[in-house]
Amino acid sequence: MKQKISGQERFFPFDPQTGFLTIHPEFGSTPAAISDQLKLLRELQRFQNELTRQNMVLLRSQQEFMKSKIYYTELYDTLPMGYITLDSNGVLLNANLTFAAMVCAERPSLLNQRLMDYIVPRDHEIYCRHLKDLKALKTEQSCELHMQRKNGTAFDVMLKTAVVSDDHKKPERYRTAVIDISEHKRLEKEQEKRHQADKMESIRGITGGIAHDFNNIFQILLGTVEMELDNLPGRSRTQKNLKKAKDTILRAAGIVAHLLHISFRIEPELRPTRIAATIQEVLKCLSPLISSTIDIRSHFPAQEVSILADQNQIHQMFMNLFTNALQAMEGNRNGILEIAVETVHLIEADMVNYVDLSPGEYVKITIKDTGPGIHPEIIHQIFDPYFTTRGLANASGMGLAIVQAIVKNHKGDIAVDSRPGEGTVFTLLFPSIRTASK
Ligand SMILES: Nc1ncnc2c1ncn2[C@@H]1O[C@H](COP(=O)(O)OP(=O)(O)OP(=O)(O)O)[C@@H](O)[C@H]1O
Ligand SMILES: [Mg+2]
Repeated sequence: MKQKISGQERFFPFDPQTGFLTIHPEFGSTPAAISDQLKLLRELQRFQNELTRQNMVLLRSQQEFMKSKIYYTELYDTLPMGYITLDSNGVLLNANLTFAAMVCAERPSLLNQRLMDYIVPRDHEIYCRHLKDLKALKTEQSCELHMQRKNGTAFDVMLKTAVVSDDHKKPERYRTAVIDISEHKRLEKEQEKRHQADKMESIRGITGGIAHDFNNIFQILLGTVEMELDNLPGRSRTQKNLKKAKDTILRAAGIVAHLLHISFRIEPELRPTRIAATIQEVLKCLSPLISSTIDIRSHFPAQEVSILADQNQIHQMFMNLFTNALQAMEGNRNGILEIAVETVHLIEADMVNYVDLSPGEYVKITIKDTGPGIHPEIIHQIFDPYFTTRGLANASGMGLAIVQAIVKNHKGDIAVDSRPGEGTVFTLLFPSIRTASK
C-alpha cells in the first residue's frame, strides 16, 4: 500500500541523519515536476549554505566576544587597585579580586555588604561626606581614609569615585577605584620625621653653641665678681651689689644649663611617676592663673596609673600644655579644661597612626580645651621651635617644641586635633610601666 506523503514532507524533504535535503522517492514523477523540485532543492540548498555561513560568522563573533570578555574580566580583576561598584547607599554591588585581596575577604562574601563596614570607625565621617558630595555634586570625588581588613589591621587608601551615567537608571550607582597609599603615607611620615629630626638637630646645634658661649661668658663674669668680692672688705654696699650680681649670674647659668639639657636631650631620669598626682600638682602651681570662669574637669581612673618618667620633665610638659590651654581660653566666659587619664591597649591595627610605637599597654592622657582652636594652615607648625602666634615679644614659641622633645624622650607619642571654633584636643600616649619594662 502506498504511503501518504504529507505537505511538509513534500516541500521540506530533509534527512535528519545526513542533514541534506532529499527528494522524497514517492513525490513528483513527471519530468516537469522533477525540474520544479530540483529548482526548489537548489534554492533551499543555497538558503541552507547562507544560513551555515551566517552561523559561522555568529559563532566567530561569539568567540571574539568571549575572548574579549575574558580579557576584560582578567584586566578588571588584576588591576593594581581595588575597583568596586556601589549603590547609592554605599552597598557593594561588585568588586574586583584586587579589592577582595586588599580587605582579605572572599569576593562573594563582599557582595551586598556596606563598604562602611570596611572603613575604620574614626573615618566614617570622611566617608559619609564623600557619599554626600557625590549625591549632591554628581561629579568625581576623592578622599583619603583608613580601611580595615577582615583581621582588623588598617591601611591607608584613596577613594576615587565616579557617578555612573551610562544609563539613566535611578537610583544611581558609583564606581570607585580604591588605591592603597599606605607605602606612600609611610614614606611621607618618614620624610616628615627626618625633616623634624634635621630641624631639631640644627636648632640643637645653634642653641648648644649659644649656650656654650654664654657659659664661657658667665664663667668669666663669675670669676671676676668672685675675685672682686674676695678683695672687698665685708658688708660694704658694693659687696652687697656684687653678691646680687653673682646670684643673677648663677640664675642665668641655671637657665643656660636648662637650655643645654633640652638641646642635647639629656637622658631622662626614669622613675615610676603617678600621672594623676602630677597633673594635680601642676594645676595647683597654675591656680593663680586659672580664672574663675574656667571650669577644670578631670577624669582619673579609680586606680592611680604610673609611667616610668622623669618627674621634672613630665611636670614641665603638663605645665606647657595647660598654660597653652588657659591662654587660649583667656577671656572665655565659660571655658572648660578637661583632662582625662586612662589605660589603653594598642594593637597592630593602631600602628598606622602611631608609627613610632609598638603594640602594648599605654597610658593615654587627653587635654581638651574650649578655646578658639587652631587653623589648619598653621596646625603642622605648632610643634616647631620658635613658632608662636602670640608674638615673639610675649612668647618664645618653645612650649610645644619642648613638650614634643619630652614625649619623644619617654618613647611616647603626641597628637593634636583642632578646628577653628571647636577647641583643641592634645592626646598623649606613654608606655605603661608594664609595656616599658618589657
Ligand atoms: N590649646 C591651644 N589652643 C589654641 N592654640 C594653641 C594651643 N596650644 C598651642 N597653640 C598654638 O600653638 C602655638 C605654639 O605653642 P607653643 O606653646 O609652642 O608656643 P607659645 O605658647 O606661643 O609660646 P611659649 O609657650 O613659648 O610661651 C601657639 O602660639 C598657638 O598659636
Ligand atoms: Mg606655650
